[in-house]
This record gives sequence, C-alpha cells and structure tokens, in this order.
Amino acid sequence: MKLLKTKAGLTGTLTVPADKSISHRSIMFGAISHGKTTVHNFLRAEDCLSTVAVFKALGVAINDEGKDIIIEGEGFENLQAPKKLLDAGNSGTTMRLVLGILAGQPFHSEIAGDASLNRRPMERVMGPLRTMGGNLQGEQGSEFPPIAIEGSKLSAITYEMPIASAQVKSAILFAALQAEGLTTIIEKEKSRNHTEEMIKQFGGKITVEDKKITVPGGQELVGQEVTVPGDISSAAFYLVAASLLPNSNLQLKHVGVNPTRTGILDVLQEMGANIQEAALDQQNQAADLLIKPALLKAVEIGGEIIPRLIDELPVIALAATQAEGTTIIHDAQELKVKETNRIDATAQELNKLGANIETTDDGMIIHGPTKLHGGVVDSHGDHRIGMMLQIAALLTEDPVELNNPEAINISYPNFFTDLNSLI
Ligand code: S3P
Repeated sequence: MKLLKTKAGLTGTLTVPADKSISHRSIMFGAISHGKTTVHNFLRAEDCLSTVAVFKALGVAINDEGKDIIIEGEGFENLQAPKKLLDAGNSGTTMRLVLGILAGQPFHSEIAGDASLNRRPMERVMGPLRTMGGNLQGEQGSEFPPIAIEGSKLSAITYEMPIASAQVKSAILFAALQAEGLTTIIEKEKSRNHTEEMIKQFGGKITVEDKKITVPGGQELVGQEVTVPGDISSAAFYLVAASLLPNSNLQLKHVGVNPTRTGILDVLQEMGANIQEAALDQQNQAADLLIKPALLKAVEIGGEIIPRLIDELPVIALAATQAEGTTIIHDAQELKVKETNRIDATAQELNKLGANIETTDDGMIIHGPTKLHGGVVDSHGDHRIGMMLQIAALLTEDPVELNNPEAINISYPNFFTDLNSLI
C-alpha cells in the first residue's frame, strides 16, 4: 500500500489505543480470579483477541459488552480442559503467560501460534516451569510451539533470570500463584511490572524489593475493575513523528507512564526532544503528552534502560537517522527474537530509504542525519516495523510503498485513520 504523506507536521489531539500488555493481563487476571472483572478501554486488536479466545476455550465466561469487557472468573481451579488446540496467533505474551497458567492445571492442553510465533524461543519459559514441576514439551522435543502441557502440581522455586523479560517473569508469577511455597524471582534488569501490579490490584500478596520479587503460592484473587491506559508503545510512533516534523503541535491523551515503560521518554528527552507531561492520573499511571518539534542529537542507549524501551527501539532508530551524530544501541539482542528479527528488519528497511545503519550482535550503529527518500519497504509481518516505516514515509518527498501492512492490526487496527486525522 501507498503510505500517508504530509507537508506540514502532526497537529491536534489523539487518544492512542489501550495498552496491549495491560489488556492481555486484564483478561488473564479476570479469568483466574473469583467474581466479576470489568475492563474499561480494552484493546480490541488481534493479539489481545487471541488472549480472549484462549480463555474462552478454557471455559471462562468473557463478554464484550461493547464498551467494557466483563469476565466472570471462577478461579484457577475452575479452568476447563480445552477441546482443541489453543491458538495464540502472533502473540508471544499470550503464549508465554498462558504457559505459566496451564503448567499448574490438572489437565492436558496444547498451544500453538502462527508461523512467526512458532519460531520464537519458549525454553526460557518452559525451563523454569519444569523446575517448578511442570511438564511441558515443544514439538519433537524442541523448544518451539506447538507445546503440549500435562497436568502437574507445582512447587515454589528461587529463580535468577538469565535474561530481562517481563514475559518470562510473568509466566513464573502465574505458576507461583498456584505453587506450594514461596517463589522468589531475581530479575536481571527491571522489566515492565504490570503482572506484579495486578497481583496487588486483584488482592494478592507479593513483595518487590528492587529486582527481587517474592510470591506465596496457593493464593485466591478477587475480580476487579480495570481501566487500561493508552499504550506508550503506540504513542511512540507519534512522539517520534511530531519531534521530527516541523510545525508539529500534538497532544496525546491518557498515555500510560508506568516508569518501567517510559524509557522512550528518557531517551527522546536526552536527544533534545520537546515533550511535556501534563494531567497526571496517578491511580492509572497515565498522563497527557505534549510534543513539539526539536533538533535531535545522537545518544548511546544500553544497559538497564533497554527493557524499558525494548518495543520502541525500531522507531527510536528512525529518530536516530535524523539526529546529529552517531547513535549506538547495545545490549538489545532480545530484538532478534521478537515478531521478526527487529535489528535486521529495521536496518534493512530504513537503509532502503537512504538511512545509514550498521547492525551489530546486540544492536545498531546509526549514522545521522541522513535524508530519507522514497522506495518500497516491507513490514516483515511485524506490526511495529510496519508503523515505524509509515513514520519514515512522512519524512520523504517521494512516495513510500509498504508491503504486508496488515501486520499493523496486531496492536493498532486504526493506525492509518488516527495518523490521517493529525495531518
Ligand atoms: C511484553 C514483554 C516484552 C515485550 C512484549 C510485551 C509483555 O517481551 O517485548 O511486546 O507484555 O510482557 P519480553 O518479555 O520477551 O521482553
């Protein structure tokens, strides 16, 4: 498809779609809790709908009432054996977190995803779950889906995480809630903490001291009302676009600003961006973001900040192509095992438009500023690569065509309509 263009900047006000990570977890916590959970502002995008379908297949009553999603939870103990293969679609969060729930269930189940998800590593989750007593096997002894899970009783572990991953941490937390004893997780770096926050919100016990998390097993959670804030990972595309396009004056409403997710704000501000936070809603950890254009300069990005901006790195790389100097991104090897290899996909596609990006084992070296030109690019079937390329297209004079744009429906079905309303 031909991508959108603008001669001016981005102006106006936009409410970005609901947070994907929190939407997934709202369904999961609703399903394993007792009583009614109401989810306001649920993200109805393909990934989160995969989570809804999985829990319906596990016998949970979930109703989309148009505005809210209502879940009538009956606790871990009333999940039902699925009658067919569970389908996680493209969603790594669905598959990995659900493995933590299924590992402690007394029945047999099997879960698979689409071609991309079936190539993504699962041993990182299956390993610790097996140490807890879980019985999980990938296809033909491999670590890849489809994965078969046999009913098991779980016991607590102490687990020092070899990688920084909220999905792995969350899978272990869901297993720990069902296990006998006190589970301790020590994070490599602090990653998004929505699961820990929701254990508390749903009335559970959990202790967090810096990177050490402890959770007692055998807990009963109680249904709640959840308001999902806007997704900073979707806001990211506009943050970069409005920073780069002259004459922009943009307001993004009620964006989630949980500090485990705001690495992009820190990095863009360090690059010289003009982004202000206003109208802080402390209860839902959200704020309005006001963005005006600025001249950006190169930065070095690595270490503890990486998990706080991991999904935003492709669009940060685009920002760096327009910044003065050489930006170095390191410690980001996890990008290679996302929906696609995002180090290769980002460099390959932006270089087609005239960028100067070198790939490294754990990141990218981006030489800026470079003038981008038109061309034909590909999303690699990855929603975030597709949206990043649309933002790149706003910077070129000649048209840019995007192959496989439908991948964007994974997290942001209204992306083109929303963007169009600002140009
Ligand atoms: C997510 C965690 C991150 C992130 C993904 C969503 C989550 O993955 O990239 O988009 O909701 O827990 P990892 O935990 O594999 O880093």
